[in-house]
Amino acid sequence: MPSQQESLGAGDDMDIDEADGVPDSSVAAPRDPLSEFGREAEIEKLRTSGSMTQNPAEISRIRNISRVQFGKFDLFPWYFSPYPEAFSAEDVVYICEFCLSYYGDEVSFRRHRLKCVLHHPPGNEVYRDDSGISFFEIDGRRQRTWCRNLCLISKMFLDHKTLYYDVDPFLFYVMTAKSEHGCHLIGYFSKEKESADGYNVACIMTLPQFQRQGYGRLLIQFSYELSKIEGKLGSPEKPLSDLGLLSYRQYWSENILELLISSYEKEESVTIEALSAALAMTTQDVEHTLQALKMQVYHRGDHKIVIPEALIEQREKQKLKRRRLIDPEKIQWKPPTFTASTRTWGW
Ligand code: ACO
Ligand code: ZN
Repeated sequence: MPSQQESLGAGDDMDIDEADGVPDSSVAAPRDPLSEFGREAEIEKLRTSGSMTQNPAEISRIRNISRVQFGKFDLFPWYFSPYPEAFSAEDVVYICEFCLSYYGDEVSFRRHRLKCVLHHPPGNEVYRDDSGISFFEIDGRRQRTWCRNLCLISKMFLDHKTLYYDVDPFLFYVMTAKSEHGCHLIGYFSKEKESADGYNVACIMTLPQFQRQGYGRLLIQFSYELSKIEGKLGSPEKPLSDLGLLSYRQYWSENILELLISSYEKEESVTIEALSAALAMTTQDVEHTLQALKMQVYHRGDHKIVIPEALIEQREKQKLKRRRLIDPEKIQWKPPTFTASTRTWGW
C-alpha cells in the first residue's frame, strides 16, 4: 500500500497528469456532506451548476478519494484531487493534520504520527486572538511540499481551480484554532505574491467540518485587512465558485451596509469611491454589490444610494447572531518585499 513517501518522495515528484479519472456521469455528482445543515437541494444545485462547472477539463475527472481521516474528523471529498492514482483504491486516506502528508494505510500513518514534530503550520504566526484563532503566513517556495499538500486537500472541495503544483508564486494564509495538541487547520486562502490583476485572494477554503460557522467570513475579512495594510484595493480571483460568491456577496453587503448606515447616522455623504477606499474593495465590487442589493437608484438625472427597509431589518437580525471578527489591531504583518533578481522574499 502506498504511503506518500514511498510513492512520491515526500510529495515533490507527483505527476498530476497520470492522476486523471474516467468520466462517468453516474458518479460525477458530488455527495452532500453538508446535509446536517439542511438545504441539501439548494447546496447540491450550487455545487453542480454555474461557475462550479466552468472548467470542462476538471469536470470530466471523477471524485477519486472516498474518505479522508484528518485529525479527529472524517472528510468526504466533493471533487477530484490529484493524489497518486494508487490512493483511489483505498477506502480511507489518512492525512496528518499538521504536516499534511498522506498515507494509504493506517500502520504507516500511525508510525508517522509518532515521529511527526509539527504542531502548527510551518510559517510565521501573523495573527493571534484571545479565542485561540491564529493566522500563519507560509511562502509556497520555502514550504513547497506543505503548500502542495494543502492544495491537494483544498482541491477535494474546489472544482474549478487548478492550483496544486506551482505553489512558488503564492503566499498562503492559514487559519488555525488552538487546542492543547496544537494549532488545528480550519481554512486558508492563497494570495499571489504579485497579482497583475490586483487579486488579494487566489483560492479560499474552509474545511467542510467548519463551514457555515463564520470562518469563511474571517478569512475574507483577513484578506481585506491585509489589503488595507498594503494600501491597495483587492478582489478575489475569478471565477468564484458558487459558495465563494455567496460568501463574498454576504461579506460585501454586510460591510457596505454597515458603513452606509453609520455615514447616514453621522449625516455624512458617501460615494462609491469612499466606500471602496474604506473597505479596500474595488469600486467594481462595490458597484456590483449595490446593484445586487438594489441600492442604486437613478433619481432626477443623478445616481443615488438608498437603503431598502428590508436590508435594515436583515441587519438587525444579523446583529443578534454571535459573530466572529478579526481584530485588525492584532495583525502583526508587513507586506513582504520582493527582490526581482533573486525571486526570494525578505521580511
Ligand atoms: N449556503 C448558503 N449561504 C452560504 C453558504 C451555503 N452553503 N455558505 C456560505 N454562505 C453565505 C452565508 O450568507 C454565510 O453567512 P451566514 O451563515 O451568516 O448566513 C456567509 O456566506 C459566510 O459564511 P461562513 O460560514 O463565514 O463561510 P464558510 O466558512 O462556510 O466558508 C467558503 C465559505 C470558504 C466559500 C466555503 O464554502 C468553502 O470552502 N467552499 C468550498 C471551496 C470554495 O468554493 N471556495 C471558494 C472558491 S472561489 C475562490 O477561491 C476565490
Ligand atoms: Zn505529520
